[in-house]
Amino acid sequence: MREGNAWKKQASRIVFLGAVVALAPACGAEPTPAPTWYRDIQPLVDRSCAACHDGSGVGRLNLQDAATARALAPTMAARVEAGEMPPPALDPSCRPYADAERMYLGAEDRARFRAWADAGAPLGDPSEATAKPGNVAHIDDPDLVLEMPEAHEVAPDDDGNEYWCVVLDNPLATPTWIKAIEAVPGDPLVVHHIGLYRDAGHDAGAGYGVPPGTKGFSCRDPVLELDWQLLHAFAPGVSVMELPKDTGIRLDPGEQIVMQMHYYAPKPGALDRSAYRMRLATEAPAAEVFMDVFGPVPFTVPAGVSQHVERSVITNEGAPTTIYGLLPHMHLLGRSYDAWIEDDAGGRACVARGDFDFHHQALYVFDEPMQWQPGQRLVTECTWDNSATGKGQTHFPPLDVAWGEGTNQEMCFLVAYLSRP
Ligand code: HEC
Repeated sequence: MREGNAWKKQASRIVFLGAVVALAPACGAEPTPAPTWYRDIQPLVDRSCAACHDGSGVGRLNLQDAATARALAPTMAARVEAGEMPPPALDPSCRPYADAERMYLGAEDRARFRAWADAGAPLGDPSEATAKPGNVAHIDDPDLVLEMPEAHEVAPDDDGNEYWCVVLDNPLATPTWIKAIEAVPGDPLVVHHIGLYRDAGHDAGAGYGVPPGTKGFSCRDPVLELDWQLLHAFAPGVSVMELPKDTGIRLDPGEQIVMQMHYYAPKPGALDRSAYRMRLATEAPAAEVFMDVFGPVPFTVPAGVSQHVERSVITNEGAPTTIYGLLPHMHLLGRSYDAWIEDDAGGRACVARGDFDFHHQALYVFDEPMQWQPGQRLVTECTWDNSATGKGQTHFPPLDVAWGEGTNQEMCFLVAYLSRP
């Protein structure tokens, strides 16, 4: 059993205990009161589901509505237990990160959804309702707003997805450092994921074969553009990213900035005009944060294998390095992700661990930056499910899948935000 899946085992054990407790009155013990909507479930939905399930988000259903939630209680419990809802995110017990309380449900909370469904989804007493958690923070005084120049009409593939890239005007006249950054989806009902990149090569679109100067083009996997550097990745539930004090991400005048939109829309016609808001500094910070990419290359994920693992081990041969956060990146068959720092003395520090979902890729910013000292090894490990029943499978029967940039190939990358003195 891999460490990354331990919580699942734990979750099912707690559910099992829950069932035993429900039978307990026959043995004379105090019954545990069943969870109720107002006391137990509504706060969880507000916190961990509402970003997508308030009736105006990608999850469409309004699970904040008690009647809808009651009707769907068994489905909610099943999707939560399977680790599918909320969509997989890194386990904050490996390393705490911003927005973890919204993006990740612990084993006890998962079990609560099951216990509520099994008890017949009681509403309980409205006077026990807890106040809703505060609204998601916004950048109210942005120094820079980068907006799509016009609304894009979403034209999904047969599977409902569209990937669309927009080259944004860069108005900067001098080098500038990002201090805080926030994605503002135009139509939250269809915006599934946004990636913001800089193209220092001034040839955005070349990797997709579009003529120079094209402002909007179809772009499924941004890694086709080898000189694109990730600035930010948004998935619903992610709010403002604040760079730690005395750090910043540099932007230069003339550099192209590209917004990669991933839309999910069952039918065409939705209009979206998304934007980014930033707070900037014009003075260089003490530490300039940059992106670097680690991971195994090349490899093949063999057909039919339900747990194929690849790893890379990279020793820090240079200066002490600070890691502020990261984005795990795999493709459709990606199933779980694990990264750690180890040393010769047997020390091991967890960097990132969790299940993976190609359609819900986010950037995780650690509550506390971590150190990667000279001589220590950064290990990145990915696990794929290339069996016929794997959730990301698109070939029946499955095929060997090689490393590569295409979405029907596979990758295993740790995209990290770093600084070095
Ligand atoms: C990041 C966005 C997001 C979050 C957060 C999220 N969901 Fe979803 N949910 C979706 C999307 C997108 C779908 C539709 C695709 C699918 O079914 O996988 C969905 C579908 C569902 C469905 C299936 C409805 C059906 O008719 O089959 C249920 C039930 C559900 N979500 C429950 C939850 C619960 C409970 C939570 C919180 C614990 C949650 N979701 C959090 C995005 C989200």
